[in-house]
Amino acid sequence: MKDTKSRITGGRRLEGRVRVSGSKNGADYAIAAALLADDDVVLHNVPEIGDVRQMVEILAYLGAKVDHPSPNTLRINCSELTRSEVPPRLAASLRASFLVMGPLLARMGHASCPPPGGDAIGIRPLDVHLAGFRSLGATVEQHGDIFDIKQTSAFRGQRVVLDYPSVMGTLNVMLAATLADGATTIINAACEPEIESLAHMLNGMGAKITAAGTPMMHIEGVRSLGGVEHRIIPDRLEAGTFALAAAITRGRIEIEEAAPEHLDALIWKMREAGVSVETTDGGMRVTGRETYEAVNAQALPYPGLATDLQPQLSAFLTQASGTSTIHERVFDNRLLYITELRKMGANVVATGQTAIISGPTKLTAAPVQALDVRAGSACVLAALVAEGTTQISDVYHIERAHDDLHGKLRALGAEIERA
Ligand code: EPU
Repeated sequence: MKDTKSRITGGRRLEGRVRVSGSKNGADYAIAAALLADDDVVLHNVPEIGDVRQMVEILAYLGAKVDHPSPNTLRINCSELTRSEVPPRLAASLRASFLVMGPLLARMGHASCPPPGGDAIGIRPLDVHLAGFRSLGATVEQHGDIFDIKQTSAFRGQRVVLDYPSVMGTLNVMLAATLADGATTIINAACEPEIESLAHMLNGMGAKITAAGTPMMHIEGVRSLGGVEHRIIPDRLEAGTFALAAAITRGRIEIEEAAPEHLDALIWKMREAGVSVETTDGGMRVTGRETYEAVNAQALPYPGLATDLQPQLSAFLTQASGTSTIHERVFDNRLLYITELRKMGANVVATGQTAIISGPTKLTAAPVQALDVRAGSACVLAALVAEGTTQISDVYHIERAHDDLHGKLRALGAEIERA
């Protein structure tokens, strides 16, 4: 990937209004689910980002017809799928590529895919997905690097116990089970709002899913699924990142089309630190202040504090008085961004899975690298308050997940340019 840089001159308070885009992950899941339908699936509020374009490329390779009738809308037709194998070049850069496995297994009886790429934030095994497919009666074989899964005569609904509430593991089992004979209960299912929203979309296509968004999801298999129009929910991680941007710059912003009910754990911690967060009609208003208090937090599966907001929260806590601790409990290697924050003068150390942040610290500009989407977002937040002009390299990582980040920050008064 060609190097891409941002330059941010810190010290501006963010003020004004920003509209949150549709959820990156929610859009990827909905695109994968379109593989189950015999008819047109129309998705609205789809963010215009690299991850979505890659997911569309995978569907097109599998035989889907995809068009873009208007901005932020996709129409997908999977009535004539021609392939059930994802080639390594398409799987390599996108974690969500593995999510076509469940739908292909259900629809075509077979699916194969190499281990997916994605952010380097930990080991990220696939055992939960594969055990789930086996529980439904599929065979799973590994040929070199390629996972090959097939329906057998025993493929039907079951009680499927997940060792861990993996988000995409839950989704893969849920997607496969929608077209399996009989009833499936997923025990220890992940509860993320994007999963509940996907169940809503699938039910609109004719699926029979109840209790999605709880740890015991229930799916009555059906013979086929039809088309649907579905609106992608707001990106709670983008909303959370803007909320922290307002706080770190001591600004005041209205975040429109956000869903604060998906951000309870973050809002709880922000209020504890002293940030004013109010819910508004269709969004939230965040007002910073001059001083903040240190807090302790843990990144957990939903409804706990999102691991995808953990690096940004750390960046914000460099401005809080006292010692904050943040314990990362989802991924085993998601504190690497600390090295970058330290280059800007942050007083942060990692012990095991815990970041210890002492503040408040005056941050100063330095060349830093966006190591992944969220690590890069933490650098952006730090740069917004740092003295001088920070250059962030590899910002393509951030842009993979954020629709028009530069434009949105500029509209709020940030001094930011894309080099
Ligand atoms: N895990 C296993 N076995 C599995 C699957 C996961 O042990 O088979 C472990 C992982 O190693 C990790 C934990 O479970 O320690 C959580 O992984 P999970 O499977 O829940 O994550 P994911 O489905 O691969 C999605 C998002 C991530 C987000 C996580 C957690 C997509 C494409 N990715 O990943 O998003 O961090 O859920 O909420 O939906 C991001 O947007 O920046 C991002 C990394």
